[in-house]
Amino acid sequence: MSQLHLQSKATLNNGVEMPWFGLGVYKVQEGNEVIESVKTAIQAGYRSIDTAALYGNEEGVGQAIRESGVPREELFITTKVWNSDQREGRVLEAFETSLNKLGLDYVDLYLVHWPVKDKYKETWKAMEQLYASGKVRAIGVSNFQIHHLQDLLADASVVPTVNQVELHPHLSQPQLRQFCKDNGIQIEAWAPLGQGRLLDNETLKDIAAVHGKSVAQVILRWDLQNGIVTIPKSVTESRIIENADIYDFELSSDEMKRIDDLNGDLRYGADPDNFNF
Ligand SMILES: NC(=O)c1ccc[n+]([C@@H]2O[C@H](COP(=O)([O-])OP(=O)(O)OC[C@H]3O[C@@H](n4cnc5c(N)ncnc54)[C@H](OP(=O)(O)O)[C@@H]3O)[C@@H](O)[C@H]2O)c1
Repeated sequence: MSQLHLQSKATLNNGVEMPWFGLGVYKVQEGNEVIESVKTAIQAGYRSIDTAALYGNEEGVGQAIRESGVPREELFITTKVWNSDQREGRVLEAFETSLNKLGLDYVDLYLVHWPVKDKYKETWKAMEQLYASGKVRAIGVSNFQIHHLQDLLADASVVPTVNQVELHPHLSQPQLRQFCKDNGIQIEAWAPLGQGRLLDNETLKDIAAVHGKSVAQVILRWDLQNGIVTIPKSVTESRIIENADIYDFELSSDEMKRIDDLNGDLRYGADPDNFNF
């Protein structure tokens, strides 16, 4: 692990390489805020950006990419199809809208944002069509529980490359991680910092002090050592840089275990089996 660096990549089940680390832009305002955050991150060495139609900032993400000076093929861009488009059977149209807003010819990863009941399998057929068209290099899902994945895999032609779920030391999802590993699906953590709620945790503060690192850095290093892709969000330049500075230390197996033991199956976001949006 020690030779990993900010641009190291996971290999997905279709051979496409995805950076282990990226910037999330949920709740980052369209326009100047998102443009500056994405440009700061790319300047700091980030190569992966996670947005979604829902976030309403795809145009700014696209502008930042064009202004970054980094060639498109060196970047890994994820966006997601929103629930209303699944309900209305408009997945292909939603994808074109995202692509146009981003101003890109292709996206690297397109995700089904939530497992909309009675719809996600139909959505997946459209995702498979998009994958076949070559406009997306990989397709995946988000917020899928084991039973959703079992249901999807029962008649999918393409196995999802990624499952992006809420995952942090208070919700470390051991069973789901094992299921995904067994089925060749890369796990990706959203809200890796528990949306800020984990930063006062005493165990994490102790471990951070030992390494002369911040709690955020300890959590993100725990993800990395666990083979979990992460996309912490920040609009603050110093934090964007801090979060990526996790390649000069290593957590011991005892420290990894102490962090694992913080799991309390505690969700801060919505429950994938019971959401109303
Ligand atoms: N698929 C889904 O359903 C789903 C749902 C939620 C999120 N996501 C994705 O996952 C990404 C990350 O999740 P998230 O944004 O919900 O939560 P998060 O990354 O766990 O936490 C972000 C919060 O932590 C703060 N922060 C970041 N780095 C920090 C540091 N080093 N020290 C102290 N505070 C720090 C940020 O503040 P500042 O920005 O003010 O610096 C922000 O308030 C999202 O942006 C989005 O791309 C996906």
